[in-house]
Amino acid sequence: MDDVETQFRGDAETLEAWVPLQEKITAERFAAEREKIFRRSWLYIGKATALTQPGSYFVKELPTLNASLIIVRGTDGRVRAFHNICRHRGNKLIREGSGCETAIRCGFHGWGFSPEGACIVVTDEHQFPSLDKSKLGLIAVACEVWNDFIFVNFAPEQTLAAWLEDMWDQYPGYFQQHEKIASYSVEIESNWNLGVNSFTEGYHTLYIHRNTVPDYQGGKTNPQRHRPYMQLMKHHTRYSAPANPDHHETPAEALAWKHGHKMLPAATFRHDDLVAGVNPSRADKWLFDVVELFPNNVMLTGQYWHMVLTFWPLAANRTVMVQEAFAYKPKNMGERLSQEFFRSRGREVLREDLNTLEAQHAALSSGAMKHAYLSRQEAAILHHYRVADGMLQDDPQAWFERIGGAALPPQEKR
Ligand code: FES
Ligand SMILES: [Fe+2]
Repeated sequence: MDDVETQFRGDAETLEAWVPLQEKITAERFAAEREKIFRRSWLYIGKATALTQPGSYFVKELPTLNASLIIVRGTDGRVRAFHNICRHRGNKLIREGSGCETAIRCGFHGWGFSPEGACIVVTDEHQFPSLDKSKLGLIAVACEVWNDFIFVNFAPEQTLAAWLEDMWDQYPGYFQQHEKIASYSVEIESNWNLGVNSFTEGYHTLYIHRNTVPDYQGGKTNPQRHRPYMQLMKHHTRYSAPANPDHHETPAEALAWKHGHKMLPAATFRHDDLVAGVNPSRADKWLFDVVELFPNNVMLTGQYWHMVLTFWPLAANRTVMVQEAFAYKPKNMGERLSQEFFRSRGREVLREDLNTLEAQHAALSSGAMKHAYLSRQEAAILHHYRVADGMLQDDPQAWFERIGGAALPPQEKR
């Protein structure tokens, strides 16, 4: 049986097959990654639909950057991000959670801030000599919204549109047609790079997932489950996973699909229903796509669903993974129950991936093996380290010139 050839887009030819994997998980490397990768990248931190009206906010802890942020929708409808710190004496302004306020008040001495970040209340104001409230607004962090995804950047060198490249306008309305059906976070004893890597190749699916999803991918015409399409961008990667047209329907699947949309697996689609970014090569045996939003996010996009996995490193050997699953909005109880099958199956599959991560990290930490030799089917992993190494080596100005992104004005000093 002939193998399916992967259609590559982007520079896959110059990738080195050897990766010094052991050195990617050290504490020294992580200290550099925190400053030169995480502080300079656009980072996904939540969906804008959570902010339903002016004054709606949520607190987002970012232990990777030792920061706490308040994400808030202004009276002008715009979503902004601020450091969660009171401009009086630096108290944490909101301890945790979410809510909706016309003014965010500090519990320490009662100062208040508008949803746009302006300082609007200074209690016992006359006791502050030559007070200028306009200089005491909340400290902003660059924040942009893409199709409902909120991104922040602590030291932006380009716009979010430039950062996302082709993807910026390829998903109109796609994500907004889904609603959240599951979310959880889990702390794993593993390096964050290994976490991202384990979701950006399909080579492992024949083995790790042989019991949970034995025949979703590949099949007789593609037994090694080669990706039909793989795209390497300046920072990100995107590939399509191959559906198995000969999948044997289980009794549970038959029941789920009787009542709801066929979410997974599904092998035949009308491509004209899909936006340009989903199944971008229009592969005929298509299951779903996997997108690495560099550095720490993996997004899976399917016909009736999408999933977002975000990896927040706490240390070189500890990572919090946040999983969010979204699916079509159900019209009745049957569809809702049908989604439950997808939800519980997905959780089992994810547990298998996470379990391997801890074992891999522990084994690599022994130092016994310095380099790993990777397949062309693992090109997204090779590219991940090529991009990361580039950011670690460059000074910010050189990096900016190399990628040629649209410049942002320098942040206003307060
Ligand atoms: S620290 Fe917030 S009002 Fe004093
Ligand atoms: Fe997996």
